Amino acid sequence: MKGIILAGGSGSRLYPITKVYSKQLALLYDKPLIYYPLSILMLGGIKEILIISDSDTIPLYKKLFGSGKNLGMKMNYAVQKAPNGIAEAFIIGEKFIGKDDVTLILGDNIFYGYLDFLYKAFESHKYATVFAYRVNDPERYGIIEFDKKNRAISIEEKPTNPKSNYAVPGIYIYDNNVVKISKNLKPSKRGELEITDVNKEYLKQKKLFVQKIGRGIAWLDTGTPHALLQAANFFGVIDERQGLKVGCIEEISCRKGFVDKKQFKKIISDMPKCSYRSYLENVLKEI
Ligand code: G1P
Repeated sequence: MKGIILAGGSGSRLYPITKVYSKQLALLYDKPLIYYPLSILMLGGIKEILIISDSDTIPLYKKLFGSGKNLGMKMNYAVQKAPNGIAEAFIIGEKFIGKDDVTLILGDNIFYGYLDFLYKAFESHKYATVFAYRVNDPERYGIIEFDKKNRAISIEEKPTNPKSNYAVPGIYIYDNNVVKISKNLKPSKRGELEITDVNKEYLKQKKLFVQKIGRGIAWLDTGTPHALLQAANFFGVIDERQGLKVGCIEEISCRKGFVDKKQFKKIISDMPKCSYRSYLENVLKEI
């Protein structure tokens, strides 16, 4: 299983920071936003990752993660020339995906909680798996309609009259067929290759598995300055209360065994003195 993080989009709602770089580099509490979705892929055991972003931001991601070797990973990079839609990621990433299955996570989607159902899906999925999460504002998302037996019967992108409150979060698990399906898509009214159209195709072929996410899991929005502040407070509270950081990729790489203790020490010694480093020094004492 390979992983793609799509970290593009115009991010106009977070202007002016997005005048300089894509919003997934904005600070969320104590680390760049993209650390959070990256950590989800890592926790699910995915080590080979492609980051897709605009041409201005890709050099910054390269600076941030390099080859990924120090984290025991393989990071790859590709440019999306214009915000042409989420499904374009599979066309841009065709070579990277090769013959593998692929999980795509949107670079601004934040998940928190007991996510074992997600990691299990990475391992044992067939065809296509997406999730459904209850939201208060269904007009903003891809929305799934279920029948009485809880089977998905329709999906609509940002419907004016939503048929349910179940939104599809930005994490999608597909078999290799997704590349072919994406190549056959036509742009939508907003001029994008829609991920919802990919899911519709799998649904038509009766190959879409939709798993409802229950209570106890947070799927947070980071699209506006206010939402970003709320998410930052959320992770700040956990850090202060438990002394545990969320989305700390260096800690995850060590705890998951991507690197050994010696390599972990090296990661720490390369950091300037700061609270992030002190946290990792404490992790080192614990392991
Ligand atoms: C995109 C997808 C939508 C999905 C959402 C999750 O919306 O098109 O189906 O529910 O991500 O974050 P967009 O970011 O384009 O508004």
